[in-house]
Amino acid sequence: MIFVDTHCHLNDEQFSDDLNEVIERAKKNGVRRIINFGAKFSDSKLAVELANENEELFAGVGIHPEEIDEFKIENAEEKLIELAQNKKVVAIGEIGLDYHWEKDIERQEIQKKIFVRQLDIACQLNLPVCIHERDAHGDALKILKAETKNIRGVLHCFSGSLEMAKEIWKMNFLIGIDGPLTFKNSAKLPEIVKAAPLEMILIETDAPYLAPTPYRGKRNEPAFVVEVAKKIAEIRGESLEKIAEITTRNAENLYSIR
Ligand code: NI
Repeated sequence: MIFVDTHCHLNDEQFSDDLNEVIERAKKNGVRRIINFGAKFSDSKLAVELANENEELFAGVGIHPEEIDEFKIENAEEKLIELAQNKKVVAIGEIGLDYHWEKDIERQEIQKKIFVRQLDIACQLNLPVCIHERDAHGDALKILKAETKNIRGVLHCFSGSLEMAKEIWKMNFLIGIDGPLTFKNSAKLPEIVKAAPLEMILIETDAPYLAPTPYRGKRNEPAFVVEVAKKIAEIRGESLEKIAEITTRNAENLYSIR
């Protein structure tokens, strides 16, 4: 069986000592491809470098909503476009809105502007987008509906309602399912996973964060994405083989990786 970890942060310093071992363990578990995302300029650049050094890795570049001050530098757009043109870059991300950590209305407005500017870059470069959205469902949907007619993407680490998921699927966007699905307090996620058209979900770790059961509380890593797939199989009453096959195909289609 082959899996893809469609979202993680191997640029994090928690991986600086043992990245090679982490990638080896992923491969041993069948996780043959890993999409590694930046949140700032520095780690987006590192994601590109790591992807060029490791066959299994691909990169997403973008400025995360909690890092909007990064966009104050001169020629921010040009810098992002330049990074995104590397051949191992498969997405613009992670980008989006986060009103959970940002309560200031003015700064939320800046988040929206920078989100739209990065969606424009994705359109321009014909790349899919990976979206971070927390406590900003309404504004995120409004912007996505207005700005993404020509691009596809995923709402990563999905935390919304089933109604919101349906809106997302209608736009031909996918949702990313992570470790919280395996938690005892997984809230609405199992219901959403059950209702999801299988071709509209991706599996991801968001490593080093959100390790699934039985690794909860530890550092997460791409090998553990298999636990998310197992839980999806259990909830839907399908084989792990089928979940692996379809979620891998979904990742290949969205991110044009082979
Ligand atoms: Ni992330």
